[in-house]
Amino acid sequence: MTGADKISRTEFATIASLMRELSGVTLADGKRAMVAARLGRRVRALRLGGFAEYCSLVTSPEGAAERDELIKALTTNTTRFNREQRQLDHFASEVLPGLVARARSGGRVRLWSAGCSTGEEPYSLTFRVLDQCRDAASLDFKILATDIDQQVLDHARAATYARSALDVIDPDHLARYFEPETPGAMTRKVAQQVRAMVSFGLLNLLQPWPFKGPFDMIMCRNVFIYFDRETQDRLWPRLARMLAEGGILYIGHSETISEAESLGLRANGHGMFRMQNQPGLAPAAQAATMT
Ligand SMILES: C[S@@+](CC[C@H](N)C(=O)[O-])C[C@H]1O[C@@H](n2cnc3c(N)ncnc32)[C@H](O)[C@@H]1O
Repeated sequence: MTGADKISRTEFATIASLMRELSGVTLADGKRAMVAARLGRRVRALRLGGFAEYCSLVTSPEGAAERDELIKALTTNTTRFNREQRQLDHFASEVLPGLVARARSGGRVRLWSAGCSTGEEPYSLTFRVLDQCRDAASLDFKILATDIDQQVLDHARAATYARSALDVIDPDHLARYFEPETPGAMTRKVAQQVRAMVSFGLLNLLQPWPFKGPFDMIMCRNVFIYFDRETQDRLWPRLARMLAEGGILYIGHSETISEAESLGLRANGHGMFRMQNQPGLAPAAQAATMT
């Protein structure tokens, strides 16, 4: 054991409290070994004597860059293509046809994947959009995808995935929405026409959001599950306010929204909610812009 492997109870409490303040992510006591392992690498890379020094650094004004590293190391980025197929089917059959009709008649359509990780979620959505609307890129149809972690966003923009991650993708989608296979390559890249539909942006959900919405569909899955109840209760109303009237919110299957009805959200199947009445907003009345 070195100083980089041992984290005291007090040091863990400091890290857990900082992580919660920065990202909303709650680290239960059982995560101590995970924190020691993941941040131990940072302690070594920075050639620090141990976690006491690391805690001083990340809580100091000079520690801004390392605070980003800490978030990167301690968030869970697990994702995959076509996760929660039932929701994607619902989106394709119940939601998308109306949105495509609106876009084709000159209207505005906005979708948001909040907590998009390495991009599999927004690209899975985009495959469905292009299935029904090949010319979506020439219409006012935009997909925003955001995450707190710059590293996963870089991966998402690069759009190159291990071939083993593509087994869950329909062969027709693979053929149409990925670049041709390079013989012997272990990865494959999402095609330009799909990538061009998605705008990726760095966004901490805890902080102010640089857009007004409304969105016709928000997918925020397996993100709130890492937040404590108080953070969740603060953020669900903010997400709900971003939905257009009639807009759909998809959440993870282990997530719940307390008092959804009071936010105007009517449960519409497992992990799916429809916005009933959004005071003062017309559907997709405003653009969602993100640089
Ligand atoms: C487990 S992944 C979920 C990815 C995808 N939504 C899915 O369900 O497959 C959770 C993502 O939420 C992001 N995240 C955690 N805290 C966040 C915050 N405060 N603001 C924005 N994103 C956050 C993480 O960086 C991570 O990429």
